[in-house]
Amino acid sequence: MAIFLTGVTGYIGSYVAHGLLTQHDDQLAVLVRAKTPDEAKQRLWKSLQLHMNFDEFAQYLHRFDIYLGDLTTPDLGLSADARKRLVESTESVLHIAASLNRKSAKTCFNVNLRGTLSILKIARDANDHHGLRRFSDVSTVAVSGVRHGDCVAHEDMIDWDRSDYDPYARTKKFCEHMVHELLPDVPITVFRPSTVLGDSRFPETTQFGMVQAFAALAYMRILPLDPEWRFDICSANYVGRAIVHVHQADKPKYGDYNLSSGRDSLTYRQIVDSVKAAGHKPMVRFVPALRGTFENAIELGMKIPRKYGINPAASLMKVFWPYLSNDTVFDNSHVVEELGEAPTPFSEYAHPLLQFAVGNKFKYPYRAWPSDAEARLAKFAAKVA
Ligand SMILES: NC(=O)c1ccc[n+]([C@@H]2O[C@H](COP(=O)([O-])OP(=O)(O)OC[C@H]3O[C@@H](n4cnc5c(N)ncnc54)[C@H](OP(=O)(O)O)[C@@H]3O)[C@@H](O)[C@H]2O)c1
Repeated sequence: MAIFLTGVTGYIGSYVAHGLLTQHDDQLAVLVRAKTPDEAKQRLWKSLQLHMNFDEFAQYLHRFDIYLGDLTTPDLGLSADARKRLVESTESVLHIAASLNRKSAKTCFNVNLRGTLSILKIARDANDHHGLRRFSDVSTVAVSGVRHGDCVAHEDMIDWDRSDYDPYARTKKFCEHMVHELLPDVPITVFRPSTVLGDSRFPETTQFGMVQAFAALAYMRILPLDPEWRFDICSANYVGRAIVHVHQADKPKYGDYNLSSGRDSLTYRQIVDSVKAAGHKPMVRFVPALRGTFENAIELGMKIPRKYGINPAASLMKVFWPYLSNDTVFDNSHVVEELGEAPTPFSEYAHPLLQFAVGNKFKYPYRAWPSDAEARLAKFAAKVA
């Protein structure tokens, strides 16, 4: 039997896979967008190399049952035999894959809604066949809709009368709904990470979207933000650890977990002071009165042809600004109680993350698939046999 895991080639999926591989013995049935098993292995190595070297990867490879597929293809693009094998071997589902493309309603609709529906059909078939231990849905705090100056309690996260920030938030909200409606007999856990930024243990990251927005703010001399506004950030290692811990627990205490910093979230003043104290040179002045002007400048920047280089920065800000300026945090009491520990404050790792991201031009220096990979993989495969 296996945990059916989606999104393993993504940032959070890599943390979850690493946690499951190193702390548990389960097989992992993974859905990977690739044309061949070899390409899928290479995509797994690319994702997992943030956490391990190639020989460790080779040791763990036998724990993966790879399914080549795509959330947007009917039945995930699996053959009837592959789908049957997946259904019959799935002991629980951990659905992480999603489109985070906040600008495309079409992509969010297809990947998040149609894709989640296909995953739910597999889960229902597995439940009918032999029973499903758990279905975990990795959602987002963005499902709580447009807010300002709030600390949102778990029971208030879904409010159908509230507007959504974007198609991403809207579709993820409906995914939560579908999971509850379509799996009434299965134990369900919903995880809602807040803004996931970096790792509190090391500077490297493979995900740069929000990091770029953070870096842009760090280099602006005038910040159109109120210094007392809070921004709810959680590290990827805390998020990954929480998902693995709760998904594998016999009886998790709660049905939903905001993976967030909650009331301990830092204010912008605290974040700026922490990077300054760690050596970040540019001086920043907060001028909240310029918020409207800044928002107009973003709109204007979006209209400038891409060749002038302003449009990408404006687009980035357009996407993330509503999240950066909502002064809203998300109660994390469930996860803190379950893990016995709160996330590390962003101030403790913001500067190394910023230095890594800027120093590497917002690209992770991926190591290539080794030329002697086949021999090294064969060596470990022989050991396992
Ligand atoms: N990162 C954050 O700050 C954050 C915050 C809150 C919630 N979340 C949630 O956490 C989850 C993971 O996010 P992430 O940050 O790890 O995103 P990510 O790095 O973009 O990873 C997304 C994953 O989904 C997979 N995927 C996308 N479209 C697919 C498709 N059509 N078929 C199959 N797989 C597909 C991707 O596969 P490919 O590698 O093939 O593209 C990748 O493995 C999402 O559900 C997201 O909503 C993230």
